[in-house]
Amino acid sequence: MNDNVILEAAGLKTSFFVKRGGKRFELRAVDDVSFDLHRGEILGVVGETGCGKTTVGRSLVGLAKSSGGTVTFGGENILAVRQSRLRAIRLKVRMIFQDPYASLNPRRTIGDSVAEAGDIHNCFSDGKQRAEQIARTLDSVGLDPSFAGRFPHELSGGQRQRVGIARAILPTPDIVIADEPVSALDVSIQAQVLNLLMDLRKSLQLTIMFISHDLSVIGQISDRIAVMYLGRIVEMADAGELFSNPAHPYTQALIAAIPKPDPSSRISADVLRGEPPSRLELRDGCPYSDRCPISRDICLSQAPPLQTSAGGRLVACHFPGQACFLTKQESGG
Ligand SMILES: Nc1ncnc2c1ncn2[C@@H]1O[C@H](COP(=O)(O)OP(=O)(O)OP(=O)(O)O)[C@@H](O)[C@H]1O
Ligand SMILES: [Mg+2]
Repeated sequence: MNDNVILEAAGLKTSFFVKRGGKRFELRAVDDVSFDLHRGEILGVVGETGCGKTTVGRSLVGLAKSSGGTVTFGGENILAVRQSRLRAIRLKVRMIFQDPYASLNPRRTIGDSVAEAGDIHNCFSDGKQRAEQIARTLDSVGLDPSFAGRFPHELSGGQRQRVGIARAILPTPDIVIADEPVSALDVSIQAQVLNLLMDLRKSLQLTIMFISHDLSVIGQISDRIAVMYLGRIVEMADAGELFSNPAHPYTQALIAAIPKPDPSSRISADVLRGEPPSRLELRDGCPYSDRCPISRDICLSQAPPLQTSAGGRLVACHFPGQACFLTKQESGG
């Protein structure tokens, strides 16, 4: 693992077992996922609902139990360490949870919620230092320190999300996994929270994995982007490259489906055709073949591996770059 890589996931597999009609099925929520997190970057992870984004995030810190693969951080495989060590690692690799409402205890003050991890790990020398750290952390997420004495129901959605971020940065971690941190917010508040995350990345030297189903949000904040489909990464590239020259037909469809301010520039084709197939029907071939406009025989029989394609990006497609949803203007050409 080179110095620039702070965390490396390799061959990560996480399944859930669900019952349908009296039978037990394996649902491969994360199916052989590998990627590096580069020190100091914001890596965007995008894909439709149910594609496995949250499960990847939870698997990285052992909150979802993986059946295979490794997650290397600080020279250790997070998935193989003892519980006590795992708890210590989770101080360094923190999650902001998807639902800012559910993740705050309604009976605890904001100050107590923000200090929770520090309290558990005895990180404060005394009450005064604890109060100072809470106040400083609230200030750093744009909340007045007086919020420490309030309760979650007294806060707006944007304020709760700021509290969610404050909880993840006290004590300061190395990596933050932010799961849909702006999805529940109005667009104007979304921009403020995105700016806050970008500021914190700089001031605290964080590495951020930013999960969202919304490619336009991901595009605003990410240095690199991983596109997920049915539990797998299907494309991974620098953000600018991905938008200007998407190689996987699914990435192209996601980009083409972003609403455009100018209606005349919208393409009329129904670019994201149909819905993903059932997660319970495991079969051969490319998982996107059902919906892909350029699917051929080989796509039905062989799953394409994620491999380096033209320009150094990673793509899992037998015919990368050959679908053509994008107009020249949209593809940046
Ligand atoms: N605890 C669970 N038990 C059974 N199935 C689960 C569980 N958690 C997730 N799944 C299933 O695993 C798949 C991936 O779920 P996951 O929540 O990771 O997706 P996601 O990409 O985060 O979706 P969303 O955009 O809706 O948050 C889905 O099919 C989901 O139904
Ligand atoms: Mg999710």
